[in-house]
Amino acid sequence: MLRILLTGSNGLLGQKIVYAALKRNDIQLLATSKGENRLHAKAGYQYASMDITNADEVTAIVENFKPHCIINTAAMTNVDACEKDQENCWKMNVEAVKTMTELCQRHNIHFIHLSTDFVFDGEKGNYSEEDVPNPLSHYARSKYESEKVVQQAKIDAAVLRTIIIYGVVDDKQRSNVVIWTINSLRQQKDINVISDQIRSPTLAEDLADACVQAALKRATGIYHVSGSETISILDMVNRTADFFQLDKKYIHPITTAQLNQPAKRPLLTGFNIDKAKRELNFRPHTLQQGLEIVKKQLEN
Ligand SMILES: NC(=O)c1ccc[n+]([C@@H]2O[C@H](COP(=O)([O-])OP(=O)(O)OC[C@H]3O[C@@H](n4cnc5c(N)ncnc54)[C@H](OP(=O)(O)O)[C@@H]3O)[C@@H](O)[C@H]2O)c1
Repeated sequence: MLRILLTGSNGLLGQKIVYAALKRNDIQLLATSKGENRLHAKAGYQYASMDITNADEVTAIVENFKPHCIINTAAMTNVDACEKDQENCWKMNVEAVKTMTELCQRHNIHFIHLSTDFVFDGEKGNYSEEDVPNPLSHYARSKYESEKVVQQAKIDAAVLRTIIIYGVVDDKQRSNVVIWTINSLRQQKDINVISDQIRSPTLAEDLADACVQAALKRATGIYHVSGSETISILDMVNRTADFFQLDKKYIHPITTAQLNQPAKRPLLTGFNIDKAKRELNFRPHTLQQGLEIVKKQLEN
């Protein structure tokens, strides 16, 4: 049995990792998140509230559960909030990672850490693991710094960078581009959608499977893990509207410059995912297939 401690289990990715682990009989899971457990399924795994910025709490829980692997999905992920509250962003995204990697070193624990396409400046696109990051925002700098913390620790560790995750979660408050589009258009609400940011949307289930594979293989190094289609956010929203047969008249294209958000975003990302395909057996769904999965889950 592989004992995995998961952080951020209430999150978009975290929830899917819980469900991916539950499908297997070779994983013993301790799911943790800051608040109460918000997943519908409560059986087949343990849950503990754990604030990753509280080093004593993290140490006690890790030393009690004795995981073989920690998967760290918890993070301050709101890019504009990170720009405004830089101190808390650094505590969550960097300092907490230091605490965990030190524990991993002390107890020979494998560490899997999630990072982002935002470490790149978006000038080039189709980024491979060898491309050199150049973060544009505080969130991006914090994630890049966390990668360095992980790589400099003397531990077995993998960094999985990903891009714009979408999917259905048990707790319907947490949104993502696909769910936001469906909800807004069903309510006939106007939405401003960025037309000049280009990304590879990633189905949360696909990324969760890659995390589980990385844990099972005790993978090390950087992996680019995203969907295989690189499209604009506007295309993603239009395709979602088409798939769910929603009226596109409420969609209003807007440029990054017009939107003028507090944190700067890279314009063109997208990943070369060959390494993840080769080493993690990563087989991402197309957006069309991903939307079919979302539809089935929303109907349940
Ligand atoms: N979402 C994307 O499009 C995207 C793109 C690229 C990279 N990523 C990376 O992928 C990872 C997962 O992202 P996500 O979208 O799944 O995140 P998310 O939905 O925002 O979830 C983050 C989780 O972190 C937990 N959390 C917040 N503060 C915490 C604390 N102090 N201690 C412990 N847990 C805390 C939250 O728990 P509670 O809910 O219990 O408060 C939440 O469940 C992150 O590392 C992110 O940087 C995400």
